[in-house]
Amino acid sequence: MNLLECRGVTKRFGALTAVRNFSFSLKPGEILGLIGPNGSGKTTLFNLIAGVYVPDEGEIIFKRKPINRLPPHQICRMGIAKTSQITMPFSTMTVYENILVAALYGQDLKMPQARKAADQVLDIVNLPKQRDDPAGKISVPLRRRLELGRALATGAEVLLLDEVMAGLTPAEIEEALLLLNKIKIQATLILVEHVMRAVMGISDRVLVIHQGEKIAEGPPANVAGNPQVIEAYLGKRYA
Ligand SMILES: Nc1ncnc2c1ncn2[C@@H]1O[C@H](COP(=O)(O)OP(=O)(O)O)[C@@H](O)[C@H]1O
Ligand SMILES: [Mg+2]
Repeated sequence: MNLLECRGVTKRFGALTAVRNFSFSLKPGEILGLIGPNGSGKTTLFNLIAGVYVPDEGEIIFKRKPINRLPPHQICRMGIAKTSQITMPFSTMTVYENILVAALYGQDLKMPQARKAADQVLDIVNLPKQRDDPAGKISVPLRRRLELGRALATGAEVLLLDEVMAGLTPAEIEEALLLLNKIKIQATLILVEHVMRAVMGISDRVLVIHQGEKIAEGPPANVAGNPQVIEAYLGKRYA
């Protein structure tokens, strides 16, 4: 059974078609990579799935239910959480409180259970030292981990991760990969990522989007060798 499915999804911004007739499906437990040049429609596709935008055409099905007309908070409650390319924590609240809010909201837990869930997530994303720091004061790499933690704490079954490795050093990327390997036990992941080594290494399957359209799909090795993908995105060094 598919956990999530997009069928012929299109989103226009005025004259620009940011996502065009896009279809794909996601199986439970899978890691799906979504790659493509800047401006190709990756973030827009995430925003469509998360309910930030309503598709102009097409349907999005999650656990057999159409979700493409639901608002973001309902989609989150149903089990889809998204991280943002530009991290937006509640900056005056502490790291722990940010995670706690996500657990309280997303999982509809009572306070003691939410605290327990938040403690677990704090450990998973390895931020115990920053527990009581204001979220606005921690460094960018740590904020990316917090962003992951907030998504995870909602208890979501599907996590949409938008460039969680952007701007990280090679050592931090290694740490992020370890973290994703931990997270994948709990959730099914769609990963938008420009760090090719990371996305090709961790994904079970990769989709390539170019000018809003899917141009390739398959196991990482096949996609990396696809001439159309090399032309549109990867460049000659991957040939
Ligand atoms: N809210 C918006 N209003 C108008 N145009 C937008 C909006 N969001 C994205 N776009 C445009 O849609 C295209 C796809 O953008 P985006 O999904 O952010 O690409 P990516 O995440 O792949 O870099 C770009 O041309 C972008 O300028
Ligand atoms: Mg983007």
